[in-house]
This record gives sequence, C-alpha cells and structure tokens, in this order.
Amino acid sequence: MKELIQKLVETTGPSGYENAVRALVRAEVESLADDVRVDALGNLIVRKGEKKDGGLRVMLSAHMDEIGIIATHIDERGFVRFTSVGGLYPNMLLGSRVRFLNGQPGVIGGEKLDAGERLHPMEKLFIDVGATSREDCPVQVGDMAIFDRPFVDLGDRLVSKAMDDRVAVAILIETLRQLKDTPNEVYFVFSTQEEVGPRGAGTAAYGIDPELGVAVDVTRSGDTPRGVRMATCLGGGPAIKVRDSGMLADPRVVRWMEAGAKKHEIPYQMEVLEAGSTDAMVIQVARAGVPSGCVSIPCRYIHSPSEMVDYRDVQNAVRLLVALLSEPIELK
Ligand code: CO
Ligand code: ZN
Repeated sequence: MKELIQKLVETTGPSGYENAVRALVRAEVESLADDVRVDALGNLIVRKGEKKDGGLRVMLSAHMDEIGIIATHIDERGFVRFTSVGGLYPNMLLGSRVRFLNGQPGVIGGEKLDAGERLHPMEKLFIDVGATSREDCPVQVGDMAIFDRPFVDLGDRLVSKAMDDRVAVAILIETLRQLKDTPNEVYFVFSTQEEVGPRGAGTAAYGIDPELGVAVDVTRSGDTPRGVRMATCLGGGPAIKVRDSGMLADPRVVRWMEAGAKKHEIPYQMEVLEAGSTDAMVIQVARAGVPSGCVSIPCRYIHSPSEMVDYRDVQNAVRLLVALLSEPIELK
C-alpha cells in the first residue's frame, strides 16, 4: 500500500482542483466497482454491492483535496502575494517551496518584521518565482499552488505534504479492493473541497441518501514534546471519533465501530478532537439526517508540509473497515 500512498500524496490537488487526484483514483477503482460516477462538485462516487437483508446503504468519505495557497496580487517587481485555501499556519510557510498548478515553482520569503513582531503574518509573506516584473511573472491572480515536498518513507512512519487526506483515499481504495462479499450497499466517496469547510461530501450525501455515514480522515496526535493534550498517538491504532468541533458522532455508530474492533482484535483508540472537523459533519446533517461517525488516522504536524502518520494505523484502519462492512450492520 505504500506505493499507492506515495502516488496519491505526490499528486497535486488543492480544493476545487482535485481533477488529477480524481483521475488517479478512478484508474485504481474502475475494475473493482459496480458503478462509478462524478457529481457536479467533482466528487467521485463509487458503488460496491447492493442492499440485501440486514444491509444498509453506507457512505464512506475521504477527501481528495489538500491545503493550498492562491495568488491574490502580483507587484511591479514580480513578487506574488497570496492567501491560504484551507487552514494554514503562517509560521509553517517562511522558507517553504511551493509549486503552482501550471508547474511553476516558487519560494516563500518574508518582509522585515516590525518591532515587537515575532512571526510573519500571512500579509508579510510573498512568493518569489524568479520574475523581475509583473509582466514577466508566470503566475497570475487566482493561480493556485501547493507545498512542493517529496514523500518520505521512515519505515513505520510516513511523511508527506498531503497525508491529510490522501492516506484515507488510499484506505478507501484498499478497503474496496478487499471487500469481497457484503450485504451492504457501500458508496466510496472521494470528496472535494473539504479543506474549505466540508462541501463536496454534502452534495454527495444528498445524492446518495445514505443510512449510515463514515468519514475517514486524519486527526491530531498528542504524542510530541509539549504538544496538544490529546489521547491519540501514532501507532495506537485507528481512532474512533467521539467528538470534534463540528460533530458529535452518533453514539450508535461509535458503539458499532468499537464492537467491531474488539470482535476482530484490531487495535483502536478513542478520539476527542478540540479543533477541526471532517466530511462526517455535513453527512450527518444531510437531508433528514444520517447517523454518522469517523475513523481517524492520528497524524503529527497536520496542515504543514510534513504530515506524519504511522503505517500500521493505516493497515489497521483497512482491516477495521473491511470487517465492519462485510457484515450486516445493526445500529443500537
Ligand atoms: Co485537513
Ligand atoms: Zn482532512
């Protein structure tokens, strides 16, 4: 699965521009699916199985988009000003390299700070693409870019600019591959525009009208020096979300996940995330409401150019999803 993860994370796809990721996923899933379609917001919706006795219509969702930046202004000397597309921390940016969708690389530099300032606010940063004037600048207002960093394999730990959420895209593809026989009608949704406030998953859920929703996404981990106080850690197993700042997971869904993990002896941990949310937030309130939850992969340095996950958590998330979806689902 590492090869698939590498291919996915090294593909470019900021919010709204997920087309290259979608093409790659489509090529991977086409032969495994009963039906494949793309909706108006660009969600790739892949169906496997048909609802039989005891089965449910289930929507899984992993977002294809990654954090990006967008050019807001080009000055007369060819420096590009920008803002973020999704949640970016300015302190992660100075010295970073970026690549625009047209292939143009650039480096992020900063203005001199004023007295008392210790960090560059976004408006004091700029991208230098090697231009000398507005006229010879190969970037125009509205062009999008992403972090330009290669995938790194540290053994059990994997690092990339886009673990959020391509690692979950890989998990959904692998789950689809391993799901042989199911009484459930399972929709694997590769969603768009999550990082700008979950949008794609909302229209996908409206179209599918699921009876159960499960997002797969990264979450923070509390295991770095003087980091956030949080129960999740890398290598502790996939996390079953109970609450984040956009959703209270349906307790029936939480119990279903926990019971499945116990029954199949898959390591897991419980997650309460204080800042951030996932596609499940909008699936839950789609149409007349959908019981929803989320399987999370603990991740260090989220929304930085070097997001780190543990490969064993990834494999165990696949095991958990395959086990849960292979059987009739009872929410109680
Ligand atoms: Co994110
Ligand atoms: Zn995410």
